Amino acid sequence: MSKQLILALSKGRILEETLPLLADAGIEPAEDLGKSRKLLFDTNLDDVKLVVIRATDVPTYVQMGAADLGVAGKDVLLEHGAEGLYEPLDLEIAGCRLMTAGITGAEPVHARRRVATKFVNLARRYYAEQGIQAEVIKLYGAMELAPLMNLADEIVDIVDTGNTLRANGMEPRELIADISTRLVVNKASMTMKHARLKPLIERLRDAVATRRGAPVRD
Ligand code: ATP
Ligand code: PRP
Repeated sequence: MSKQLILALSKGRILEETLPLLADAGIEPAEDLGKSRKLLFDTNLDDVKLVVIRATDVPTYVQMGAADLGVAGKDVLLEHGAEGLYEPLDLEIAGCRLMTAGITGAEPVHARRRVATKFVNLARRYYAEQGIQAEVIKLYGAMELAPLMNLADEIVDIVDTGNTLRANGMEPRELIADISTRLVVNKASMTMKHARLKPLIERLRDAVATRRGAPVRD
């Protein structure tokens, strides 16, 4: 097994919040990620490399051992199943809620409820746990459109400010889970590369703790 550590980062919204946290932990890419078409980057630490990939691919890279560590939203981890992964640290960034939502004022459908979402596994599990019969319809975006177009009775989606729901005549219903971004680690790496991984995880843990304790700045 290579001595090098590969850290897989989720592109997009999470990346923007991850880079300052990594910097607080003393981990910095050797070049500006935003200015490059590259996907694999050196860092200031000789034995740490970064890969920047689709958020939904991070659990797969880490589970299969192509990356030793990863940064992924809890929503993505719940949907993936995340077997073969440790989740040692809540990075406390990109917070939001995973909720059901429906047309404002409409009664939830009690017979077989049609639910549009990109989180199909998670939604199936959730409705089964609630004892609600659901037909889960996979969409890749713009979930809020589905009830308006009578494609679904309800959606399962990320809610942050609630603005997207409101703008489309919808309201949040049930909270499924509070979401934040987590550090995940491949189980075999945790054993085989423990001596190198442990201090890295501790640096991140300290950076998260310092932020939590730090006074609010403008
Ligand atoms: P992809 O491009 O891979 O389909 P995406 O467009 O869903 O992903 P982003 O919107 O960049 O990706 O990031 C989504 C992640 O950010 C979610 O998985 C969640 O953990 C987190 N997140 C935090 N706040 C929000 C929000 N308001 N809306 C969506 N995701 C959010
Ligand atoms: C996300 C999410 C919701 C919205 C929630 O979409 O899917 O639609 O943001 O945020 P709000 O409660 O603050 O309005 P995003 O803009 O990331 O587009 P996406 O469909 O690509 O995920």
